[in-house]
Amino acid sequence: MTERILIVEDDQAMREMLSEILNDSGYQTLAVLDAAEALKMIRDDRAVLDLVITDVRMPGVKGDEILANARACRAETPVLVITAFGTVEHAVEMVRAGAYQYITKPFHMTELLNAVAEALERTAPLREQARLRREMPSAPRRIIGASRPMRNLLDLIARSAQSNSTVLITGESGTGKELVAQAIHDLSGRNGQFVPINCSAIPADLIESELFGHTGQAFTGAKQARAGLFETADRGTIFLDEIGDLPLAVQPKLLRALQEGAIRRVGTNAEQRVNVRVVAATNRDLEEEVGEGRFREDLFWRLNVIHLQVPALRQRPVDIPLLVDHFINKASELSRRPPLDVSPETLAILTAYSWPGNVRELENAIERAIALAPGAGLTPNDLPDRIRNSGGSAAFIARSSERHLTLREIERDYILETLRKTSGNKTRAAELLGLDRKTLYRKLDEYRDEEAT
Ligand SMILES: Nc1ncnc2c1ncn2[C@@H]1O[C@H](COP(=O)(O)OP(=O)(O)OP(=O)(O)O)[C@@H](O)[C@H]1O
Ligand SMILES: [Mg+2]
Repeated sequence: MTERILIVEDDQAMREMLSEILNDSGYQTLAVLDAAEALKMIRDDRAVLDLVITDVRMPGVKGDEILANARACRAETPVLVITAFGTVEHAVEMVRAGAYQYITKPFHMTELLNAVAEALERTAPLREQARLRREMPSAPRRIIGASRPMRNLLDLIARSAQSNSTVLITGESGTGKELVAQAIHDLSGRNGQFVPINCSAIPADLIESELFGHTGQAFTGAKQARAGLFETADRGTIFLDEIGDLPLAVQPKLLRALQEGAIRRVGTNAEQRVNVRVVAATNRDLEEEVGEGRFREDLFWRLNVIHLQVPALRQRPVDIPLLVDHFINKASELSRRPPLDVSPETLAILTAYSWPGNVRELENAIERAIALAPGAGLTPNDLPDRIRNSGGSAAFIARSSERHLTLREIERDYILETLRKTSGNKTRAAELLGLDRKTLYRKLDEYRDEEAT
């Protein structure tokens, strides 16, 4: 396969010479003088680039930025820096920042060709991996859920993916907010990246430059200009996780970015247009935060254009067996072993538990159980104590463990048990089960028919 090399060089003679020599040696070249165009190519994850050769000093975008973007968007692609006498110090700094090697002008062509061949050879396995990843169809991540609230949510996800409006995702910890954000991006057809940032994990004084980037001289310690995550997410989606923790001082800047579709790097007033879909999430009550003066009301409304609420797992117990199945299959695929059976009693305990940590807690419990399970099946003994001893609905569990029940029978028992708890109030039972009333009626009819035969 012919390797594709991107040459970024504003000096025409140099650019043409590099192209010619590399072409003669059997490489495909793309030579650009305009660094902005180079950035576009580097950030386009469908573009195949096996190596980048860049000049250090160019008008407009600098070699630094080419390098930073290549490192961020395609870590597998080596960057060679060509530098004139007098900028060697700078080139050394670029090697520290991840450039593969620097070559000083004037250089001998064999020197350049050797460097290119070596860089390509060393990075071949990485580039191969990246190629496979690119060619894999990006299947929307699977969100498991058949309960009514989850079906409603899936429907809203599909519909909101079609628009560019800002989405605010709320829900308890571990309910799957990030998964929902990814699904929106996957289904949106936007071809940029999905860029997540956790607003609570970044020190308040760095968050602005993390989001919007900074110029070289913006603050002490900021030696090199750096693109922010909004730029990385251009044509893609930025996911602002834990948005409730965004410092008040940064909130107006985010608001401006949302309203104007443009950002300013820290240290400059120059605006830069970006095409970014914004999805935010929080497990706090943002309206309450607004009331307490910790969150700007205007920003809240700007974020809350489409609101998706991810239901807690305890509000949709009918999804639990499906999720258990899903996580067991996932684990067995990873370990290349046949999926473990779950004993009915185990499944009954899992279904009756209240899951304060939601799907994440369930996933962890299954992973742990699989790691500890000595045999071919999962038993209550493989579950963490807090779950095994949670009591759940003891009668229900005892009954289901008496004989070998099928998943369907467990579901039936669970539904009937819930109906007993609500003294036959079907609306209330449907609510507790996370089922719509129609489905509950249908199931009850089926159970009646079965008993009759
Ligand atoms: N409906 C679902 N189907 C399959 N996997 C799920 C589902 N919901 C959550 N998960 C899995 O559970 C784990 C936790 O989900 P995620 O990180 O999206 O939760 P979160 O709401 O962002 O949590 P937190 O508020 O703590 O950040 C992930 O591994 C995710 O893949
Ligand atoms: Mg999360």
